[in-house]
Amino acid sequence: MEPPHNDTSKPDPGRRRPWVVGISGASGTPYAASVLRGLLAAGEAVDLIVSRASRLTLMDETGIAFRDAHWRTDLREWLALGADGKPETYPVTDERLADVRYWPAGDLAAGPSSGSYPVKGMLIVPASTACVAGVALGLSKDLLQRVASVTLKERRRLVVTVRETPLNGPTLKHLVALDEAGAVVLPASPAFYAGATHIQDLVDFVAGRVLDAAEVPHGLYRRWEGELRGGSKGEAPEAS
Ligand SMILES: Cc1cc2nc3c(=O)[nH]c(=O)nc-3n(C[C@H](O)[C@H](O)[C@H](O)COP(=O)(O)O)c2cc1C
Repeated sequence: MEPPHNDTSKPDPGRRRPWVVGISGASGTPYAASVLRGLLAAGEAVDLIVSRASRLTLMDETGIAFRDAHWRTDLREWLALGADGKPETYPVTDERLADVRYWPAGDLAAGPSSGSYPVKGMLIVPASTACVAGVALGLSKDLLQRVASVTLKERRRLVVTVRETPLNGPTLKHLVALDEAGAVVLPASPAFYAGATHIQDLVDFVAGRVLDAAEVPHGLYRRWEGELRGGSKGEAPEAS
C-alpha cells in the first residue's frame, strides 16, 4: 500500500537537492560553463535557468543558439567549449548531464519558483546589472529573478556574480541591498596571483571562487599558500 503523503515515519534521504544556476545576459558565459562543469564534477544536481537576454551573449561568445526544445544538446556543446572557443576541450558524457534539469525562463510555475521545492541555493553566473536590479527590488520579471527572490526569502545561499564595468550609482546601491539581504556579491574579477597562463585559468579562478562560496569542493585554481612566487618564473623576488 502507498504511504500517505503525511507519513513522517521515514526521513527522505534520497531527495534530490540541486543548486539552481541562473545565467543572465551579462558577458561572461565561460564563467557559467566552468561553474556548471565544476558542480557536475562534484556530483551536484543542477537546475538550470537561461534568461532570454543570455541567449544573445551565448550566441555572441560561443556561436551557440540555445534552444528550450534542444537544451540538452546545446548544453553539451557549450560545456565542451574551452574559454578560447576550442570545441570538445571538455567532452561531457550523458551520464554527467543526467542530473541537470532545465526550466525555461518564462515558466513562472517551474519547481524552483516555490520555496517548498528543495534546493541548496542559487548561483547567478554571470549576473547582469538588470538582473541585479530586478533581484534587489524583488521584481521577479522572469523565473531567474523569481528564484533569486525565493532563495533570499528562504535564507538560502545566493551568489551573484555581477559583470559590468564601470558600475553606476544605482547598481552599487542594488549590490549593497543584495549584500544586506544575505547574498554573496562576487564580482567576476579574476586574480593574477594564482599563476594564470591562459584565459581559461582566469575564468576558472572566478568559477572556483563561486564554488567556494557554495562550499562545493573543486580544483579549479591554485590557492594562495602564503608565499610570493615571483611571477611566471615561479620564484620569489630576491630580498635586497
Ligand atoms: C553581447 C551583449 C553583452 C552584454 N554584456 C553585459 C554585461 O557585461 N553586463 C551587463 O550588465 N549587461 C550586459 N548586457 C546587457 C544585458 O543583456 C541586458 O541588460 C539585459 O536586459 C539583461 O537581461 P537579463 O538580466 O534578464 O538576462 C549585454 C548585452 C549583450 C547583447
